[in-house]
Amino acid sequence: MTLLTLQHVRRIFAGNKNNQVMALKNISLEVEAGDYVAIMGESGAGKTTLLNIIATLDQASSGQIILNGHDLSQLPEKDAAKFRRQHLGFVFQNFNLLDTFNNQDNIFLPLVLDRKPLEIMQQRLLPLAAQLEITEILQRYPYEISGGQRQRVAAARALITHPELLLADEPTGALDSQNSQRLLQIFDQINQAGQTILMVTHSAATAAHSKRTLFIKDGIIYHELFRGQQSEAQYLQKINDSLTALVMAGGD
Ligand SMILES: Nc1ncnc2c1ncn2[C@@H]1O[C@H](COP(=O)(O)OP(=O)(O)OP(=O)(O)O)[C@@H](O)[C@H]1O
Ligand SMILES: [Mg+2]
Repeated sequence: MTLLTLQHVRRIFAGNKNNQVMALKNISLEVEAGDYVAIMGESGAGKTTLLNIIATLDQASSGQIILNGHDLSQLPEKDAAKFRRQHLGFVFQNFNLLDTFNNQDNIFLPLVLDRKPLEIMQQRLLPLAAQLEITEILQRYPYEISGGQRQRVAAARALITHPELLLADEPTGALDSQNSQRLLQIFDQINQAGQTILMVTHSAATAAHSKRTLFIKDGIIYHELFRGQQSEAQYLQKINDSLTALVMAGGD
């Protein structure tokens, strides 16, 4: 089943007249349910812009975005926050946890906003907290835990709503290699359990956990790799080769 379709998506940031930035030129893309897609590309290539548009945090200048039958380009601004809570999960580089809430309440927040009963919230939290190894720190505050723990709390908050699509922008960007590995193992597990993931990363080793890597340059998808039956090491080698080719091809 196709979960997400983008057709000819463009995003132009209007600066002053001579200063427009075409961050996305013409992006067409299909993502199957259960897929795990990495998006790579140099700084300024348009990765975050693409993710933000899929996340309904930003709107395309033209083109179509369909998520599970919902046309996001037609989604009224007033419905966007609710749509995000009910259909999408987010993990950002800088965690975005609220320091005035303890970790458990941070995780419950999207369900509280949708008025889910406490019983359901707790039922969902128990297995998730165990999987993410955060059971012991649920009553603490985000400023009382480590960066790796914070990212796992953020992942719990993203997953507790059972999102159709998990969006991650540099989820390992602020983590050391050990905590990156832990988070990526969790992503592997949830993907194996059926969770669709779309993840922006600068790291080839991180991208090598995906099933498919898209390379963006100057607002277009210029190359794509599939893991298929390759080992993680073989796939990583191909990703690195593609990145080298990208740099050799020059541009900005
Ligand atoms: N709000 C904005 N107004 C104007 N230009 C913007 C805005 N947001 C992004 N851009 C421009 O759009 C282009 C793509 O930016 P984007 O943030 O998507 O890049 P990125 O691939 O995520 O880069 P990085 O790897 O550094 O995070 C860049 O040239 C950037 O300067
Ligand atoms: Mg970015």
